[in-house]
Amino acid sequence: MSDEQYFTNQPRTGSTAGTSKQKTAKLQVDSETLHVVLDSGVFARKGIDAGTMVLIDAAARPPAKGNFLDLGCGSGAIALTLATRAPKATVYAVDVNERAIALTAANAKLNKLRNITTILPTSIPQDLRFDLIWSNPPIRIGKSELHALLQMWLSKLTPSGEAWLVVNRNLGSDSLAVWLTSIGYQVDRLVSKQGYRVLRVRPTRGADQSAS
Ligand SMILES: C[S@@+](CC[C@H](N)C(=O)[O-])C[C@H]1O[C@@H](n2cnc3c(N)ncnc32)[C@H](O)[C@@H]1O
Repeated sequence: MSDEQYFTNQPRTGSTAGTSKQKTAKLQVDSETLHVVLDSGVFARKGIDAGTMVLIDAAARPPAKGNFLDLGCGSGAIALTLATRAPKATVYAVDVNERAIALTAANAKLNKLRNITTILPTSIPQDLRFDLIWSNPPIRIGKSELHALLQMWLSKLTPSGEAWLVVNRNLGSDSLAVWLTSIGYQVDRLVSKQGYRVLRVRPTRGADQSAS
């Protein structure tokens, strides 16, 4: 598979002198074996991230249908998992990295998953609400930027919606849980595995769900 096949707009970005850095990882989702193309310029180019795998293994089964969000989709492992487990749902995969968006779209096609919409955050319809958010969020963007990012997307949860986040314990999963609680979410610290914590986040009446 060449870069050109997946990135017609940026065929050489992230490659050295045209040498492809692509690699294909297998992702087992229940009885389905998915193939995830990874590439330079997109998070976790050498293999599916350990934290992402902890989330995929730990999160509850998604509802059968609804609007779901993979916040910060990278190469798309989370979106592909949601789309496989809930074929009647619409899974929005967003990322600021256009290369990640293109790679997730290519991976959806590769795995014949038609219920994934890849989209830049700025293009999401303002009135769209999510029944489910799964994310391995970009912790390294900095605390205040991460808080602003999560506050904005969590405010787009439906009243009965929930978010599942995986965060490295050394990078502040527990303080993030405390902060989310302080802004009105019910946070359950669920699995702790391989240095990662999985948080389930649900709106309470005190949470700002105005998605402003
Ligand atoms: C920890 S990585 C997870 C990637 C992918 N979900 C996975 O599990 O491999 C976080 C992702 O968030 C993206 N990101 C960073 N800032 C963002 C923002 N403001 N909005 C949306 N995505 C963002 C990064 O480009 C990166 O792909």
